[in-house]
This record gives sequence, C-alpha cells and structure tokens, in this order.
Amino acid sequence: MLGSVTIPDAPRGADAHSDGDVLIHALSDAILSSFALGDIGMHFPDSDPAFDGMDSTPILQGALGMARAAQRDAHLIQVVAVVTLDEPKLGVHRAAIAGAVAALVGLPTERVGLTFKTSEGLAPDHVQARVVVSWDGSPARAPGGGGTASGSQAP
Ligand code: C5P
Ligand code: MG
Repeated sequence: MLGSVTIPDAPRGADAHSDGDVLIHALSDAILSSFALGDIGMHFPDSDPAFDGMDSTPILQGALGMARAAQRDAHLIQVVAVVTLDEPKLGVHRAAIAGAVAALVGLPTERVGLTFKTSEGLAPDHVQARVVVSWDGSPARAPGGGGTASGSQAP
C-alpha cells in the first residue's frame, strides 16, 4: 500500500504500524509539522492495538483536521514527495498514487509531485517516504511567500 494505492507487484507490504503506508504517514507528519502539532506517533501511537493493520487514511484525515483547527485560513497548495524503494518499480503507478493522494487532501492531481528513487541496492528491504507540503495562509509564511513543512517515514 502506497499513497492509499495497492501496489500489486510488491513482494510484501512494509512491516509497520497500521497498514504500513509510508507515504500517507510522511504526508500526515508533514501536515502536523506545519503547525508544530507533533507527529503521528504522538497522536496515533503504535502501542495502541486499535491501530494495528489500520487503514492510514483516517490518520491523514486526523492530521488535516488538527491543522485546520490550528489555522483556519491555511490552505494546502502542494504536496511534494520522494519515495525510495528498490523494487518494485513505481513509475507505472505514479498517476494512480498522485490521483489518490490528491483526492485525499483535496488538491488537483497536478499539485501532487512524486519522485521515485532506488537506494541503488544499498537498502533493498527498505522503503522510505519524505514529503514536503506547502500552504497558503500559514502563520509560518514569510512576507510574500508560502509556508512549507516536511515529514519523513520509514517502517
Ligand atoms: O533511483 P534512480 O534514479 O536510479 O531511479 C531511476 C528511475 O527509476 C527513475 O526514473 C525513477 O522514477 C524510477 N523508479 C521507479 N520505481 C522505483 C524506483 C525508481 O519507477 N521503485
Ligand atoms: Mg539510478
């Protein structure tokens, strides 16, 4: 599962909290970080059996809800992600993943940028996602600029 899309040719899922969707987790962390709201481990602890095997999208919706409660005039305007994984190749799923992530956060698909990287064989069993989100109307915004925050997740 990556970006809420089932990857059919994955040899196995990530061994992780909830459904192991590292992209949704990193996106949720980036959203929380935007408003210094901590991270998903704080709000959705992996010690809680309620989250075992859980669909990650409620975590994302929870993070978005907390962000909106913290800053009502902030609008998410862009998601940029880098996913590092050797196998399987993800490029064929780029449009499906971007579309699913965009729908979950209420953005047009072209505002979700996805880069896929291999570890060049250095970490064949590892998957990692790094996400930067940009906001309009954020209190962190520099004059005339947008606010950004990033999150990173590895199982
Ligand atoms: O990591 P590297 O730059 O060598 O990746 C080469 C190409 O393979 C890139 O275009 C990337 O999008 C793609 N790729 C992929 N699925 C992965 C890793 C990389 O489609 N799991
Ligand atoms: Mg290469």
